[in-house]
Amino acid sequence: MARVTSPLTTALAQLSSAVEILGYSPGLHEILATPRREMHVAVPLRRDSGEIVLHRGYRVQHNISRGPGKGGLRYAAGVDIDEVRALAMWMTWKCAVVDVPYGGAKGGVAIDPREYSSAELERVTRRYTSEIMPIIGPERDIMAPDIGTDEQTMAWVMDTYSVNQGYTIPGVTTGKPLPVGGSLGRATATGRGVVHAAAAALADDGVDLSEVRAAVQGFGKVGSHAAHWLHEAGTRVVAVTDVDGGTRNDDGLDVAALLAHVATGAPVSTFEGGSAVSNDEIFGLDVDLLIPAAVEGVLDADTASSVKARWVVEGANGPTTPEGDRVLADRGIVVVPDILANAGGVVVSYFEWVQANQAYWWTAEEIADRLAQRMHAAYASVSETARDQSLSLRDAALAIGVRRVAEAHQIRGLYP
Ligand SMILES: NC(=O)c1ccc[n+]([C@@H]2O[C@H](COP(=O)([O-])OP(=O)(O)OC[C@H]3O[C@@H](n4cnc5c(N)ncnc54)[C@H](O)[C@@H]3O)[C@@H](O)[C@H]2O)c1
Repeated sequence: MARVTSPLTTALAQLSSAVEILGYSPGLHEILATPRREMHVAVPLRRDSGEIVLHRGYRVQHNISRGPGKGGLRYAAGVDIDEVRALAMWMTWKCAVVDVPYGGAKGGVAIDPREYSSAELERVTRRYTSEIMPIIGPERDIMAPDIGTDEQTMAWVMDTYSVNQGYTIPGVTTGKPLPVGGSLGRATATGRGVVHAAAAALADDGVDLSEVRAAVQGFGKVGSHAAHWLHEAGTRVVAVTDVDGGTRNDDGLDVAALLAHVATGAPVSTFEGGSAVSNDEIFGLDVDLLIPAAVEGVLDADTASSVKARWVVEGANGPTTPEGDRVLADRGIVVVPDILANAGGVVVSYFEWVQANQAYWWTAEEIADRLAQRMHAAYASVSETARDQSLSLRDAALAIGVRRVAEAHQIRGLYP
């Protein structure tokens, strides 16, 4: 599907809306809209065949006033600097909304990982890491997985950084494998957090997750775990898609069987426990809860007008365009925004970084409890602000996030 509204246009429109609510000056608006630091790098790769190809890479630190940059690394063919800028800006507000001591950053390499061998991806990752080495580190900018990258990618980044510094520095990445300083609960954290956010939003209307039907777009690191935790909570998950389309079953999909099917490398659409559904159809299904957990810009004015769900909980970053947002709001559909709903990943990344810095590991129960507590506290403060100021949950979350960042700027003062 062609993207009419770019992620950066969406992110900047959201910031403008928050700045208007907060009454900030044009100068402060411009500071908040502009990335603090960006690096563009060339990433040459010797393919297994011996051919040399070049990929473009980026790391953007949107804001580092509240702490080190924090944000994922994305491998996708269409990655460009504006997409990375938007994602970095959303990380800034997200870290502030859940009050973890980070700024916002993001990285990307324009490469389709499905077309490369594991050895080639390792070489791309190591070269990209070594190119951006001057601006990353546990006190500077900490990476995590995003679309097209995983815990193995984070282990390669951590190893490349550590080898070059001369000692092991696990805090330079989060979302690592457990044997090299990963945290229990990190792999499932974003999906689990999405389900906490959904539970809190439903509870505002006196509804329990066990009473609703849900559809999930995207069955990767976020969507698959969101579907799993929804199923655990008693929700009937009736449709799931990935990039190639998906599967639906009005009686409820067997999520465990679907996870096992996908673990073999098969696409969601070949699952035998349901019938075919496309990525366009999934938005208009007769469900209560819709979870976009794939890519940006999928809920535009058109798709938003077909939504039947009462709640949209954003697992992906930037899935709703400003036009889509207006349509959903006009139709009375509650949107739990990305910077709140998918913040469980950065919350447990923060726990992983704290554990790495202390070299002391928490139990799975401690992590699950602290994640739940943080997500529900963040939801409560956003929902209270929304009620008190008659704002949407998105505007309330943005107002809280942007205000916390602006306060850090004001308290620190302008140098020189
Ligand atoms: N991984 C995290 O911890 C995390 C945290 C916060 C937000 N996010 C955001 O969540 C989203 C998904 O990230 P992920 O880590 O699960 O990535 P992933 O690569 O693990 O999974 C992406 C999923 O989306 C599907 N997909 C890709 N393009 C699609 C399209 N055009 N239409 C429908 N489905 C498509 C893929 O097939 C896959 O199932 C992204 O927006 C990401 O920025 C991820």
